[in-house]
Amino acid sequence: MRILPETPLDREAIFTLTQDAFKDHPHSQQTEGHIIDALREAGALTLSLVAWDGGSPVGHIAFSPVTVGDGSAGWYGLGPLAVRPDRQRRGVGAALLREGLARLEALGAAGCVVLGDPAYYGRFGFARDASLTCPGVPPEYFMARVFTRPARGEVAYHAAFSV
Ligand SMILES: CC(C)(COP(=O)(O)OP(=O)(O)OC[C@H]1O[C@@H](n2cnc3c(N)ncnc32)[C@H](O)[C@@H]1OP(=O)(O)O)[C@@H](O)C(=O)NCCC(=O)NCCS
Repeated sequence: MRILPETPLDREAIFTLTQDAFKDHPHSQQTEGHIIDALREAGALTLSLVAWDGGSPVGHIAFSPVTVGDGSAGWYGLGPLAVRPDRQRRGVGAALLREGLARLEALGAAGCVVLGDPAYYGRFGFARDASLTCPGVPPEYFMARVFTRPARGEVAYHAAFSV
């Protein structure tokens, strides 16, 4: 498996695999593919990585800037993360997370937040952080990983997440 930054040729495949992955997700409104398109359109897709296996795209991860109440710079939000349904539970998501977080850190990011299953993201260094809040989401599912500098306050995702 290879993990590569997206190219313009990958856009449709990213949309399709993301929509397919979230189709039966209990907390999804099936907007994830549109969110990625809107982030790209807004120039806010900081990192967009595609996992390839045998010439097929099998997974995708996105990172975009977030704002933090205390004005801290260099914070990002992870997501959407999606693995094609027929390739789930074989380590593709883990590989995308490891590569994506390493690249984000190499870009000089101060930290990253994620909204998701603590049992899953806890394996990748994410933990609840009492200093960071995200209005409207259950706090037990909102986690952060500090790379360099802690931050404090309300976190706001890019407007593209409201599509
Ligand atoms: C969540 C997702 C990205 C994980 O990627 P993956 O390649 O399937 O997962 P990995 O192979 O890296 O990790 C597998 C382990 O993660 C956990 N896991 C994976 N998917 C899970 C899910 N949907 N619910 C609970 N645990 C899950 C399990 O513990 C699993 O281990 P197991 O197979 O031994 O039980 C993928 O399943 C997916 O695209 N799901 C639908 C979309 C989604 O939920 N995205 C994340 C939203 S925050």
